[in-house]
Amino acid sequence: MNVLVELRKVVKDYPMGQTFFRALRGVDLVVREGEFLAITGPSGSGKSTLLHLMGALHRPTQGQVLFEGLDLSSLSPDELALLRNSKIGFVFQQFHLLPRITAWENVALPMLYARVRPAERKERAMAALARVGLLEFAHHRPNQLSGGEQQRVAIARALVNNPKLLLADEPTGNLDTQTGREIVELFRSLNEEGRTVVIVTHEPEVAAAAERIVAMRDGLIQEERHVC
Ligand SMILES: Nc1ncnc2c1ncn2[C@@H]1O[C@H](COP(=O)(O)OP(=O)(O)O)[C@@H](O)[C@H]1O
Ligand SMILES: [Mg+2]
Repeated sequence: MNVLVELRKVVKDYPMGQTFFRALRGVDLVVREGEFLAITGPSGSGKSTLLHLMGALHRPTQGQVLFEGLDLSSLSPDELALLRNSKIGFVFQQFHLLPRITAWENVALPMLYARVRPAERKERAMAALARVGLLEFAHHRPNQLSGGEQQRVAIARALVNNPKLLLADEPTGNLDTQTGREIVELFRSLNEEGRTVVIVTHEPEVAAAAERIVAMRDGLIQEERHVC
């Protein structure tokens, strides 16, 4: 399969007063189209940093991130925003839904930035909600939904521009075990439809749903294994 994202000797430093903290210390990683990858490791090991770099939300301090073979350092901030909006969907532990608008309006937000026509926006938002099994809640606001339902809305929002890559940072971290399983199952079925999925998790059960597990430690990939 084609390479979708490639990290080459990626270093990421965060400034800390007069000095800096090295969150990634030279990471090499290839994600192929159609893969389902889990990134695990203890808190502080650099998982979120790695995901943010793959999603073009951060720039590396050293090294390269390539998306479909394109070196992201060659893109302007506007070009990076366009790439994120059209090719990458993000899901977070805290859902990050806007509280004052309905589920479908939340799902439609990425299309606003992509300048999709209003009629098409609603149609596509509804289709994305249907995909995650939430059509009947389209007119509910986030506080009228359970945690699992809110996460489904967030997944629908991540899907609405039909991205090649779906990135999720501890997507089950705020959910009970059963709801978490359902969310993992949803990611699995999205992957089976051909979408590339990368999930950060410290739950072994979640990681076991992936095809490949990358274990991080102290800013480096410590171990990589394929799940049978
Ligand atoms: N914006 C930041 N400024 C300074 N340090 C940061 C920042 N973000 C993350 N870090 C540090 O980088 C390390 C890796 O963080 P992170 O990638 O969030 O790890 P994980 O997701 O595995 O818990 C941690 O020690 C964290 O404190
Ligand atoms: Mg994290």
